[in-house]
Amino acid sequence: MGEVGLAFIQDEEHRPKLSITESDGIPVIDLSILNTINEGHYDSIKELVTQIGDACREWGFFQVINHGVPTDLLNRAFSASKQFFSQAIEEKRKVCRDEVNPLGYYDTEHTKNVRDWKEVFDFTVENPTFIPASPELGDQQLQELRNQWPKFPPELRETCEEYVVELEKLSYKLLELISMSLGLPAKRFNDFFKNQTSFVRLNHYPPCPAPELALGVGRHKDAGALTVLLQDEVGGLDVKRKRDGEWYRVKPITDSFIVNVGDIIQVWSNERYESVEHRVSVKSQKERFSIPFFFNPAHDAMVKPLDELTDDQNLPKYTEYNWGKFFKTRKLSNFKKLNVENIQI
Ligand code: SIN
Ligand code: FE2
Repeated sequence: MGEVGLAFIQDEEHRPKLSITESDGIPVIDLSILNTINEGHYDSIKELVTQIGDACREWGFFQVINHGVPTDLLNRAFSASKQFFSQAIEEKRKVCRDEVNPLGYYDTEHTKNVRDWKEVFDFTVENPTFIPASPELGDQQLQELRNQWPKFPPELRETCEEYVVELEKLSYKLLELISMSLGLPAKRFNDFFKNQTSFVRLNHYPPCPAPELALGVGRHKDAGALTVLLQDEVGGLDVKRKRDGEWYRVKPITDSFIVNVGDIIQVWSNERYESVEHRVSVKSQKERFSIPFFFNPAHDAMVKPLDELTDDQNLPKYTEYNWGKFFKTRKLSNFKKLNVENIQI
């Protein structure tokens, strides 16, 4: 057994099996048709929308290829991230997050009270008005948040700013496809994202002496609307499949993004799509890098099942909640209506 601090050790039932195999099952969806849409391609879009809907129902996860984000930018983002994390800890802590500003570097994140084997750097879209990351902050302080940029590597800031713009564009496309797959107009969700609270996280998972005891990120569901993740070739993202409750490792595909729906889409869709549990396993010999974009609505967005997707036969399963306030607790169960199936009107 290797040496890891007690804080990192998962309860026995949540420890990862080292023998987990990479799955071919998680759908790979080709978005190239989006670059050439005109009237004649309507059927291909329909086919794409069907694929997205099936993937959301079956897995809550899918991978996209030919997504239109330049490969060169993906490589530059990884390269800047690697250089930043390669520095001494004192350098990284110069842009450390603190009680007032939750953006920047930190290496002490806990998931379900167990420490994650990782270090991260968070930044948000241009001119953030707020990012609701810390329960103890009042709204007043949240207004003042700003990105913190390290001195090294010098190109990190520009690369990150370019990255977030491209990811926002891609996320809107994905959101529109998801909206259509629910039988709704393509832009049905877009208004929720004015003054969005989206952010990007650079993740570094160092080699871990005890990968059978610790996790890079413990099991969790994403609280926001959509997550669009870039991972390197090392792999380690495990997804719990709804159908059999087993963990499956997402097979890395170069230049692809992994997309998953979060709690907000689960609520908007009244559970037609579900936010799926996932975690990150680590390795003893290899470090891993990943870059998720968390596509989240405005602070004041009110989230509830859409009227179009509920009726007397399909009653709303959640009460309405405010996204900004919710993010501080992330307990969706607080808003779940009990026994909704049995309620008679
Ligand atoms: C996460 O779910 O927070 C990170 C996923 C990853 O690094 O693959
Ligand atoms: Fe996640």
